[in-house]
Parts: sequence; C-alpha cells; structure tokens
Amino acid sequence: MTNHHRIAGNGQIQFGVFFQGVNHTTVWKDAQSGSQTDFESFRRVAQTAERGLFSAFFLGEGLRLREHLGKIHDLDVVGRPDAQTALAALAAITTNIGLVATQNTTYNDPADLAHRLASLDLLSGGRAAWNIVTTDNAWTGANFRRGGFLKHEDRYVRAEAFVQTAKAIWDSWADGAIAGSRNDPRWLREDAITTVKRHDESFDVEITGRLPRSSQQHPVLFQAGDSPDGRDFAVRNADVIFSAHPELEDAKKFRDDIVARTLKAGRPADDVKIFPGQEFILGATAAEAEEKHQWVRSLQVGPETAIAYLEQFWGRTLTEYDPDGPLPDIDPIVDVTNPTRGNAFHGKSAKDLAAQWRADAKENGQSIRQFVAARSRLNGRGLVGSYDDIADKLAEYAHTGAVDGFNITPWIVPGGLDDIVNELVPRLQDRGVYRTEYEGTNLRENLGLRAPLTRRGSLTSTQLTESEEVA
Ligand SMILES: Cc1cc2nc3c(=O)[nH]c(=O)nc-3n(C[C@H](O)[C@H](O)[C@H](O)COP(=O)(O)O)c2cc1C
Repeated sequence: MTNHHRIAGNGQIQFGVFFQGVNHTTVWKDAQSGSQTDFESFRRVAQTAERGLFSAFFLGEGLRLREHLGKIHDLDVVGRPDAQTALAALAAITTNIGLVATQNTTYNDPADLAHRLASLDLLSGGRAAWNIVTTDNAWTGANFRRGGFLKHEDRYVRAEAFVQTAKAIWDSWADGAIAGSRNDPRWLREDAITTVKRHDESFDVEITGRLPRSSQQHPVLFQAGDSPDGRDFAVRNADVIFSAHPELEDAKKFRDDIVARTLKAGRPADDVKIFPGQEFILGATAAEAEEKHQWVRSLQVGPETAIAYLEQFWGRTLTEYDPDGPLPDIDPIVDVTNPTRGNAFHGKSAKDLAAQWRADAKENGQSIRQFVAARSRLNGRGLVGSYDDIADKLAEYAHTGAVDGFNITPWIVPGGLDDIVNELVPRLQDRGVYRTEYEGTNLRENLGLRAPLTRRGSLTSTQLTESEEVA
C-alpha cells in the first residue's frame, strides 16, 4: 500500500467552502463578524466562492444544540438554518457552484430525504450533493424517541440500506420517462417508473420515486466519518470524502488507505475524491499571517471555552483551574469518554486520555488554553502563511496527489473567503494547479466524476488493471 496517493490525484486542487455556522472555530467577537443566520451572510459567502470558481458550498447538520454538563453550550455560535432550505435559496442566486447538504441516515427516512435531495438537484440544474453522515451529535436521542439512538455499528448498517434505497429511488424513473410530446396520450411513458421495494431489518418500505433524473443523474454523494466502518462505507458508496486529514503527511497516508480500500471494493483508484476540511490564515507576508493566526486563535478559544472543552472529557467542572496554567492534575470522574462527543474518542478510557493529554501538554510547554486551541481543532494547525508560500504549499499537495481539494472552513463570516479568492486563487492559477473556468454545467462534471455507480454497468477489468499498473 505505498504511494497510492501518486496515482489518485490529477495534479489539480479544488475548493469547497464549509460555512460552519456553529463551532468555536467561527469567530463572532470581532466587529467584522456578521450574522450566522441572515441570508445575506450565506449569499455573500456563496457568491464569493463562485467568483473564486469553487466547486462546492457545503453545510453541516446539527440535530440538537450542543450541551455541556446539562446546559446549552453558549460560548460559541449555536443554532443554524436547515441545510437544504438554505441551499435551495442559494440555488436561485448562483449558477455553477455545487450545493452540499449534510444529512444523517440515522434519523431520516429514504423516501422523504431522497425526494428532497432530488428536488434540490433538479431545481439547481444538477448541482446538489448529499454529505452522508450517521451522526454522533443527536446524543440524547430525545428529539427522536421513536428511533432511539442506534449503536455505532448499527448506524452504518442502516446507512448502507438507506443509501441503497435512496439510489434505487433516484434510479426508479427510466431515462426519458416523461413522454415529452404534446401528441402523446400520457405524460409518462408506459412502465417508466419502477417501485422500490425493500424489506429488511432496517426498512420495510415500498416507494414510488416522485421525480425524474437531473442532468447529473442524481445528487453527488459525499461522506464524512472516519472510523474503519465509515471508510469502507465511503468506498462502497461515496464520490467524495470530506476528511479530517488536512496535514500533508497525514493526508498522503489517508489517501493511501482510501485508495487501497477503493481498489478492494472494485472501483478505480481515483474514483473517490478527497477534500479535507482546512482553515486558511493568510497575509501579505509570513509575519503578518502569523500575527493574524495568534489573534484568531485568541478569539476562537477564550479562557472559558478552554475550560469547558476539558470538562467534556473530565465529566466534571474544572472552573478552579487557571486556563493559562497546566492541565488539571485530577482524574476524570467518568470511566469512558462519551462516544457522542467526538468521533476520535470512541470508547477510550477517560483516565488514559487525560494522562496522555497532560503528558503531551507538558512536553510541548502548553497551558490549558494553548493545548485546547491546538487540540480541539478539526483541521490541525491550519494553513498559515503568506499568499505565495501557501500557493506553493498547495501546489505541493496537488503534485503529490494527497488530496483533490480542500473544504475551506472560514474563521469569519461573511468576509472569510475574500483574501482566498482575491489573492490565493490567482496565484494557484499562475502555478497551473487551479481551474480558470468551470469545466461543466453540473457538479458531477465539475468534480471530474464518472457516472454514478448504479449507472456504469459493471466496471471493466481494464479500468482496474490500468489503475493498478500505474501503481
Ligand atoms: C470532517 C467531518 C465533518 C462532519 N460533519 C458532520 C456534521 O455536520 N453533522 C453530523 O451530524 N456529523 C458530522 N460528522 C460526523 C459523522 O456524524 C459521522 O457519521 C460520525 O462521526 C460517526 O462515524 P465515524 O465513527 O465513522 O466517524 C462529520 C465527520 C467528519 C470527519
């Protein structure tokens, strides 16, 4: 499994933007920070992204407000509009950018979700995508008493059945299902629609799809979830992985792992695209960027946020500890870190985790605040540097094939993409690693994807052999 990354990338970098809306990475205490819920903020971010020829505008999903020791965690932005509703509004004021909605398979139903996604796909001219998650954030399950809270492994069983059913619904209208001539006696051609039947432990349904295909056949499938089950699920089903592995060496390893799994699943090496989340903090010079970096971090992780973060893992209040001092010397009062708090922590002993963190912080000379600022970020350190240095760095990502693009998480809304689009994109174009115009009219074309898996027939052995030979 060596150097698979070299065969999978195409020497180009694409961008998506992840308008987070929630999270401590979104700075709200600055005068430049706009509303997280007004449409104007969504409009400005999406149109700036489209001016910068971004492939996708991406929204996450949170089923409940984050809670902390029984109270709503209100140190950061909380609450955001439903993703599909926001994307439907954006579809009307954008032309090329893909519209990606994170939606979970644990608490939804295929007949409904597949229809809403197909609606977005048709109304946007083939620009919709679904980021499939099983979700770890509906932690009490109280929103959804009927379904309860599925165990981690059971969630992927349901996800698999869910996605197969959704695809069957999207494929249930034959090509040319609508008769299309005023002289035809009926609107639909005969036998144009197949009923989808599924009777297994996850679903007991018979569904008639309610819409024809879009220009990209059906929504593009993204996946976010990092466990081995999640990765195998991705290579069986997804077109794009939204990963949590942005650092170059880690990104190469992640690509190697995904390519190996992809080939094993019978798909060509480059069939699953990888877009890690990434934060950019840029300046005209390296010094200016570093100064901005320190300032952004101080706004993202204030003293109370740092303590609250540790409290989640210690299971107790830690307000007596100095945020600028060392990590707490007492042990957590919980046995196992709560698996609902974050996917990296499934089933780890809380005591071991705390001991490890204490040792790491000591070794790096970090205070609680510094440790949390570094630790709590999805995206590692972020890309911090001058426009030119970061353009060179991204060219390196492109040439090594470590990723296909980045899902950029702006630290401020709505102006957080301005320097990226105005300063970084032209430099990437000069280096020949970034598009100068959209390649196609729908998202599938712009991402350089093949036809949906269900529409390919069986993959030819030639395709697989070619991929392997290049390896
Ligand atoms: C980069 C990334 C972004 C994610 N975004 C969301 C999200 O917006 N909403 C959500 O419910 N889950 C999100 N998830 C987590 C998924 O819910 C995932 O299904 C969950 O962590 C369980 O799968 P896993 O154990 O394979 O990671 C995200 C995961 C990753 C890696």
